Amino acid sequence: MLRSSPSLDSASKRVPHRGALVDRFGRVHRDLRISLTDRCSLRCTYCMPAEGVPWLAKGNILTTDELERVARVAASLGITEVRLTGGEPLLRPDVVDVVRRMARIEGEQGPLEVSMTTNALRLPQLAGELAAAGLARVNISIDTLRPERFAELTRRDRLDDVLDGIDAARTAGFDPIKLNAVPMRGVNDDELVDLLRFAVARGAELRFIEQMPLDAGHVWSRVEMVRGEEILKRLSAAFRLTPIGERGAAPAERFLVDDGPATVGVIASVTAPFCGACDRVRLTADGQLRNCLFAREESDLLALLRGDADDDAIAELMRRCITGKRAGHGIDDEGFLQPDRPMSAIGG
Ligand code: 5AD
Ligand code: SF4
Repeated sequence: MLRSSPSLDSASKRVPHRGALVDRFGRVHRDLRISLTDRCSLRCTYCMPAEGVPWLAKGNILTTDELERVARVAASLGITEVRLTGGEPLLRPDVVDVVRRMARIEGEQGPLEVSMTTNALRLPQLAGELAAAGLARVNISIDTLRPERFAELTRRDRLDDVLDGIDAARTAGFDPIKLNAVPMRGVNDDELVDLLRFAVARGAELRFIEQMPLDAGHVWSRVEMVRGEEILKRLSAAFRLTPIGERGAAPAERFLVDDGPATVGVIASVTAPFCGACDRVRLTADGQLRNCLFAREESDLLALLRGDADDDAIAELMRRCITGKRAGHGIDDEGFLQPDRPMSAIGG
């Protein structure tokens, strides 16, 4: 029996089929986020230290056959969307093949919808092929439009490549194109209006994401963090923002910009958590299933995949992982502990 909770949205209350991924709070899981690699071509200061992080052992990275198997079992349990993440997913040499194989898997409502979060550096080369392989949508990270600042923030002088990547995504026909920006005090918080102008001019939907305590350097500070309400206040000085209701399982609170059609989103993961409507489960590049970005435990799918486990055993481990999901991320709780893995090794 599904227990209903007032904080749950209608999207996650759709009737699940047998054996679906339903947790103790009645949240039905539809969205599987798969990290394809923990490597990245950038070194964003809020994510990685300059020297990188100890990389996952190559031999433990899931093969494409293994990824396909996990996604197939997940689809049989009600997963309808797969989001490919990293590190930087486009660094995986066979990423186009991964997309093609994922997009062919039949879920409850037809083929899985496959999307990707990327830094866009390789989109000029790959956007066309990815679209042809069945990639439905892309989210591109861009935190600044100033070349020197970009080089400082990501420790690589590659803003032009990101801009080319955004153009390539448009040319390839991705729609909508979402842009992600993490505002940081004293780093890029004077650029919020410029970033939105840039997105509006390109027909992209910008989403500002509150910085979460996921950096490898553990320097995140609640006091320093640019809060969602501050983001809105700064934008409101330059644009007329009209709230668009109904956010469903989507984390962004969305607004029409100057009466539309452009929109902007604010993802206040820290100050207004959307955990009550969360329908996500994550698979790390080394085969560990996590029921939350901030989970303290992982379920070892790698061991099952490399043993002689059948699909039922894989399904059972997925269900158990979801059963253990907590009500929320608890960033505000006393005793909150940042996960051991940085964001680059979990997948965004
Ligand atoms: N807080 C919020 N967002 C983050 N991202 C990476 N690290 C953090 C963090 N600590 C974002 C990236 C990318 C997406 C995968 O998550 O900017 O857009
Ligand atoms: Fe790479 Fe994304 Fe981390 Fe930046 S935030 S270092 S682009 S994984």
